[in-house]
Formats: sequence, structure tokens, C-alpha cells
Amino acid sequence: MKDIVLNNGISIPRIGFGTYKATTEDGYRIILDAINAGYRHLDTAALYENEEDVGRAVRESGIPREEFFITSKLNRNYLGYENTKKEFDKSIKKLGIDHIDLYLMHWPRPDFGSSDFDDWEELDRESWRAMEELLKAGKIRAIGVSNFLPHHLDNLLQTAEIIPAVNQLELHPGYLQKEAVDYCREKGIAIEAWSPMGRARVLKDPLLSDLAAKYGVSAARICLSFCLQSGFIILPKSTHIDRMKDNLNALDTVISDEDMKKICSMPETGWSGEHPDRETIKP
Ligand code: A2P
Repeated sequence: MKDIVLNNGISIPRIGFGTYKATTEDGYRIILDAINAGYRHLDTAALYENEEDVGRAVRESGIPREEFFITSKLNRNYLGYENTKKEFDKSIKKLGIDHIDLYLMHWPRPDFGSSDFDDWEELDRESWRAMEELLKAGKIRAIGVSNFLPHHLDNLLQTAEIIPAVNQLELHPGYLQKEAVDYCREKGIAIEAWSPMGRARVLKDPLLSDLAAKYGVSAARICLSFCLQSGFIILPKSTHIDRMKDNLNALDTVISDEDMKKICSMPETGWSGEHPDRETIKP
């Protein structure tokens, strides 16, 4: 099955193209390559500064807009009701589309050290209220969050009318955020994995190398297939068309239950150093 159905009945492709860092002059070309490689689910964000490139690549691909599933995200430094509405308008203008398939709050708190850092609870609830209104107005098909831990979700759910459809988290072998994942599963919130290969930091791990040899695939494939088999939607990135294509085939590799367990018990490795409540640590 290439798609899964979110808690509001909307279908989402299980493999999307992550566009973070596709921000250089090459951004447009990389995104068009990804579309040509077969991706129809594109994951962008205001922060990535490539919404224009995504919109342009979609238009110039000649493929009808309805065939795409486009996600964008609210910048963490513009939380709050009014800001959310304004930021959303900027995003759809840059993308050049009239609705976004999935709109996420990118992080539950403003940047560490910003003056609003401690006011996140009210800001999050107000952003969510704005997103619920945009959903009801038909400008978004599904709303969700990103990098939310259970306490951030508890706060949101105090006043939310709509349960988030998705929580997008850093997830890969060596960084499995079990508590947040279990919480989302219990609430019916679909889980998306950003950096499912740990931004390539985990690809030299000995267990993953052994499994790659055993299954006759790359360590990258082991990471992606592991994430899919864990039930996550994956958002791999690559600048190379051959890898883009290969990553789209990650459903073809089936990892045994025993090997899934081995990957689950790997010690922490490859974490980006990003945490919603703390200053980023350089890996
Ligand atoms: P490249 O752009 O040179 O292909 P993540 O999606 O976890 O953040 O990881 C992205 C990183 O993984 C990029 O450095 C990308 O490099 C690399 N990568 C993507 N796909 C593959 C693959 N199939 N094999 C090896 N490395 C890959």
C-alpha cells in the first residue's frame, strides 16, 4: 500500500520528498528531479525558504496539482492566532496554490532564547485555533504538528476541537522517540519521520551495515524500510536522482521481526541535536 489514510479520511503517500536544504540555486532543479523520479508528496516549510521552488517545480512538471500532496509548515517564530493566518497566506502565495494538503506547526516553541520561548502554551493553542479555521474554510485538507512531545500535545489538546492528523518527528534507527510515538499511536495521530536516515549519520553503523549485507541492499534502504515497517510516513532527502528513485522503492524490502527488534534496541546514535525545549547541540 503506497498511501495511508489520516484520521480525517485524507490519503497521504507513505513516501514523501524532504526538501530541507534544497534551498540553494539548485533547489528548483532538485525538486523537479524528485517529481520526475516519481515523488508526488513534497514536504516543505516556510523556514526552508523554498516554497517558491516547490510551487514552480509542481507547475512546470505539467502534472495536475491534484496529483500532488503538498505539506508546508508554520515558522516557529510566528506562533499565535494572527501570525498563523498571515504566515499561511504567505505560504500559499509563495507556493502559488489555493490550498495546502497538510499544514503543520513546525516546532511547539519559538527559537531557544527568543523572548516568547516561555509563552509557548498559549501561543500554540492560538495557532491551532487559526489552523482549525483555515481547515474549516477549505484552505487546508489536514492539520498537524511537528517535533511535538507528549507535553506539547497535552497542552494543545486542552482546547483543540480537531486532533492533529500528523506529528512529524526526527525518527531513524538510533533515534526512535518511543514515548512520543506511543502517545501518537494511542491518539490516532499519524507519524512522519524526518531525516529517516539520520541525515546519513547512521549509515556507517555496524548493525545497519550487517543488515544491508544480509538483505543485499544499502544501509539507507534498511533505514527507510525499517521506518516504513514501523508505520511511519518517511520523508527522505537526496540531491541525486538515482537515490531519489531508489528511496521510493523502500517498500520492496521486508525486514524480519527479529531484525526489526535488533534495530529497535540500537543505542542512541545519529541524533541531530535538535530538541523542542532546549538549545540545539551540534552533533
Ligand atoms: P545525497 O543528497 O548526496 O544523496 P535524511 O533524509 O535522513 O536527512 O538524509 C539525507 C542524507 O542522506 C543526504 O546527505 C543524502 O545525500 C543521503 N542519502 C539520501 N539517500 C541516500 C541513499 N539511498 N544512499 C545513501 N545516502 C543517501
